[in-house]
Amino acid sequence: MAKLWCFLCFIITSFFGLTKSVISLPEQIATPPLPILPLPSYSQLKWQQREIIMFLHFGVNTFTDSEWGTGHENPSIFNPVGLNANQWVSVATEAGIELMILTAKHHDGFCLWPSNYTDHSVIGSPWKNGHGDVVQELVNAAKAHGGVDVGLYLSPWDRHDRRYGKNLEYNEYYLAQLQELLRKYGSIREIWFDGAKGSNAPNMSYYFSDWFAMVKELQSSINIFSDAGPDVRWVGNENGFAGNMCWSTINRTLLSIGNGSIVEYYLNTGDPRGTDWLPAECDVSIRTGWFWHKSESPKKLSQLLEIYYNSVGRNCVLLLNVPPNTTGLISEMDVKRLREFRSAIDSIFVTNLAEKCSIKASSQRGGKGGGFGPEHVLDRDHLWTYWAPKDGDNEDHWIEFKGPVEGLAFNVIRIQEAIGLGQRIKRHEIYVNGKRVANGTTVGYKRLHRLQEGVAGAHIVRIKITESRGLPLISSIGLHFDPFWHPK
Ligand SMILES: *[C@@H]1O[C@H](CO)[C@@H](O)[C@H](O)[C@H]1NC(C)=O
Ligand SMILES: *[C@@H]1O[C@H](CO)[C@@H](O)[C@H](O)[C@H]1NC(C)=O
Ligand SMILES: *[C@@H]1O[C@H](CO)[C@@H](O)[C@H](O)[C@H]1NC(C)=O
Ligand SMILES: *[C@@H]1O[C@H](CO)[C@@H](O)[C@H](O)[C@H]1NC(C)=O
Ligand SMILES: *[C@@H]1O[C@H](CO)[C@@H](O)[C@H](O)[C@H]1NC(C)=O
Ligand SMILES: *[C@@H]1O[C@H](CO)[C@@H](O)[C@H](O)[C@H]1NC(C)=O
Repeated sequence: MAKLWCFLCFIITSFFGLTKSVISLPEQIATPPLPILPLPSYSQLKWQQREIIMFLHFGVNTFTDSEWGTGHENPSIFNPVGLNANQWVSVATEAGIELMILTAKHHDGFCLWPSNYTDHSVIGSPWKNGHGDVVQELVNAAKAHGGVDVGLYLSPWDRHDRRYGKNLEYNEYYLAQLQELLRKYGSIREIWFDGAKGSNAPNMSYYFSDWFAMVKELQSSINIFSDAGPDVRWVGNENGFAGNMCWSTINRTLLSIGNGSIVEYYLNTGDPRGTDWLPAECDVSIRTGWFWHKSESPKKLSQLLEIYYNSVGRNCVLLLNVPPNTTGLISEMDVKRLREFRSAIDSIFVTNLAEKCSIKASSQRGGKGGGFGPEHVLDRDHLWTYWAPKDGDNEDHWIEFKGPVEGLAFNVIRIQEAIGLGQRIKRHEIYVNGKRVANGTTVGYKRLHRLQEGVAGAHIVRIKITESRGLPLISSIGLHFDPFWHPK
């Protein structure tokens, strides 16, 4: 009896053992790894994905052929008889740009909208008999095109208004104008504050905490730009170049607005130990000046591409200024150059040669079918699907592409991190056929390497992450060919 019982036990256990191995349970999808703080906010992520933003410097300076107005300009000189904001928006969208920031007020104090708190504005101009409103024109045109967003610059330094230099009165004036701009014109996606100021201007302390609090109260999805954020930081120069190393993280406590003693270097490179997510925006003009001048012409395509690689290609957003002329339109030369710029970018990045390759990685989180395999670097999602190595794997992490026998002809490598879970990569190297062809520090949202050695007859391409904060998470990789790149 005992024997039979044991035999039954044996049958039963082996039956279940068997079913377990034959009818295997679906493989477990691994959970995403923990984030590494600080993280971007929803609006910062949206901003980062824009890659290029347009700045429009426009105002009395356009008519006086100057860069910094004195504040004594007569509003009667502002008369852009052919102003058509639809043209501005078309030019932007054709260039793949969907956020446009207008100088609602520059240092000269002239307001492009009919502010109730000053008569130094479009009200005093012959344009539309004083009934014009440039901010409204842009907002209407952006809405008509659909999918285009508006941002505004309201210069803190005001050379016209008498209240400037009287702390309480001027801050009240400034806040009154902020309320007009952020209440009357619908959704505003970025507001630009800077510390620019002449050396002999009156002393003035800006109530930044009040300004920031009010901005956030009036607009839920806005990003505030300044030398010190709080949402987007200045990159430390006006050439459009980020640091070769560029962290989106930094310590805000070390920054202040309009403080010349902040080393450019800190803004330019960020801080791997930074406690705040405060990515950098690279502002640069398509021309020499910020305002339109008859004597100036747009930068060459090669210069614009150089800027692109050094801003967007270094984990930043490019804020490209394209100034309307005295007619109130973007000049044909600039329109043409922007078209060339967009078509060059598209032609470089439209083909990803990595798609022709087989792909493998040093390890993958959750094993095969775990949801974090290297194939995710080739899909369309550049944020939330990614390759993740196995936990606790302390070896170098790498991902490798094996191309067809005839080899691949590329000279640009694109790497993107899944920044939604924090910026992590500190050091990386790229090998082609076993030879190191490029190396660098940060990657971030997007890192572009142009190969010094030109086009490689590449068969095996390995991207190695040699140092990171926690595990590196890579959302996209591209191998591209740039016909405009001619290394010396
Ligand atoms: C100025 O005040 C009037 C009356 O209150 C208001 O209708 C208008 O929207 C205000 N203008 C601005 C630019 O806020
Ligand atoms: C601003 O303040 C500083 C220090 O308080 C003073 O030395 C300087 O003269 C002031 N400048 C003006 C233009 O009032
Ligand atoms: C300017 O920045 C320096 C360096 O961070 C700091 O020591 C100084 O207090 C700042 N000055 C102002 C006025 O914020
Ligand atoms: C930034 O803050 C972190 C955390 O407090 C600190 O470890 C780091 O050294 C700071 N960075 C600088 C440049 O002081
Ligand atoms: C401004 O640009 C428009 C469109 O390109 C052009 O027709 C117009 O002549 C330009 N105005 C001036 C003053 O150059
Ligand atoms: C890249 O490699 C060179 C040569 O080994 C080295 O001097 C440099 O520090 C490396 N750069 C980075 C960012 O790792």
